[in-house]
Amino acid sequence: MKFGIERPQTWQVCIACGNEMVESDPHARCVRCGGLLEIEHRVPRMAPEELLRRFTERRGAPRGGSASGVWRYKDIVLPSATEVVSYPEGNTPLLQRASIDRWAGVGGLLLKHEGYNPTGSFKDRGMTVGVTQARRIGARAVACASTGNTSASLAAYASLAGIPALVLVPAGNVALGKLAQSLAYGAKTLLVRGDFDDCLRLVEDASDRLGVYLLNSINPFRVEGQKTIVLETLEQLGWDPPDWIVLPAGNLGNTAAFGKALVEARAWGLIDRLPRLAAVQAAGAAPFAQSFAEGFARRHRVKAETVATAIRIGDPASYDRAVKSIRETDGVVLAVSDAEILAAKAAVDASGVGCEPASAASVAGVKRLVAAGTIKPADRVVAVLTGHILKDPGALLHYHREMDPPPVGANRPIEIEPTIDDVARLLEGGSPC
Ligand code: F0G
Repeated sequence: MKFGIERPQTWQVCIACGNEMVESDPHARCVRCGGLLEIEHRVPRMAPEELLRRFTERRGAPRGGSASGVWRYKDIVLPSATEVVSYPEGNTPLLQRASIDRWAGVGGLLLKHEGYNPTGSFKDRGMTVGVTQARRIGARAVACASTGNTSASLAAYASLAGIPALVLVPAGNVALGKLAQSLAYGAKTLLVRGDFDDCLRLVEDASDRLGVYLLNSINPFRVEGQKTIVLETLEQLGWDPPDWIVLPAGNLGNTAAFGKALVEARAWGLIDRLPRLAAVQAAGAAPFAQSFAEGFARRHRVKAETVATAIRIGDPASYDRAVKSIRETDGVVLAVSDAEILAAKAAVDASGVGCEPASAASVAGVKRLVAAGTIKPADRVVAVLTGHILKDPGALLHYHREMDPPPVGANRPIEIEPTIDDVARLLEGGSPC
């Protein structure tokens, strides 16, 4: 169907066939062709200055929706939402460390640290909108497939909303912190003997047949929430866009959200030019980088393998939306090796900032793009750190305690006898007795 002149404030549109669906339609995909859906809003009926004034006014609200770094932007996220399911989330810092600048070879690299969200990853920004929508449509249960962060976030927000949650994760390939969260927040957690791509196929099937509301990032309401990573960053920069925004890419929900946020922000007069997006994949899970290298001539699917389990994805669901984002922002897609990811992570961790392995792909990507001359040393660059350092203690301890020979920056713990002599000797660089 197509809405006539009298468009609602918000509706859903299929990016493949253009079919339009009402805001409250619970289907995860286009009911006509199975394509991905996108949310459309009528252009806000106010001058850009008025919109910006509202955002600023709400900043720092002590309670309620405006205290959230997502719902502060509700006019361009989900204007019709009144009762929201919020912790609050967002309001994450933009950090800078000279040691990371030096490591990456760029001056003034800003790190948007999404690990500061309530469950420790950027997923909370999408989930607050997704679960709010689930409650509005009266969903009896919510579900997702996940490499760990989406499931941790869904489990938390579903518990906040009082809706039962079902999560499907690849057995043996979820970082410990994430699995622990999903169990602790009370989601029914299924360990699937397969990879993330198997989990996603299975949960889509289950949501179709069992009438459970799907909250993977193919859900367009999640994308609306994740747009606020970009909106909040732009606001922190006084709405003066950087030259580049660099992010890790797995299932491509965030790449889709970032492009949409930027194009809308320009169309609605909030910014006057677009930064370029750089989406960074792990070399062992890089079907999107492969497609980019061929001018997006065709979609690739791979069997994924990488130490960065969060982005261990071989058949990214938001491919079509992400292609649009990269094209519209004159963006680039690249792949970095696990060794580069771990070296970037060691640099980020040692600076005191810290992040999970997949997040460090963005910093590794900056270094690579600077070396290639794509990013100039004087460019203004924002790299997104998507998850908290404590999400993956297993990878951390392996790096610092177990790798042989010890990698750069490995900080081995030292066991000692309970004597002051041992402490004194070690303080001076000696070894324990
Ligand atoms: N970084 C982290 C820490 C993630 O958890 C993910 C995705 C990404 C980057 C990639 O983002 O999928 O939007 O391209 N994690 C999903 C999950 C797949 O299930 O937690 P994307």
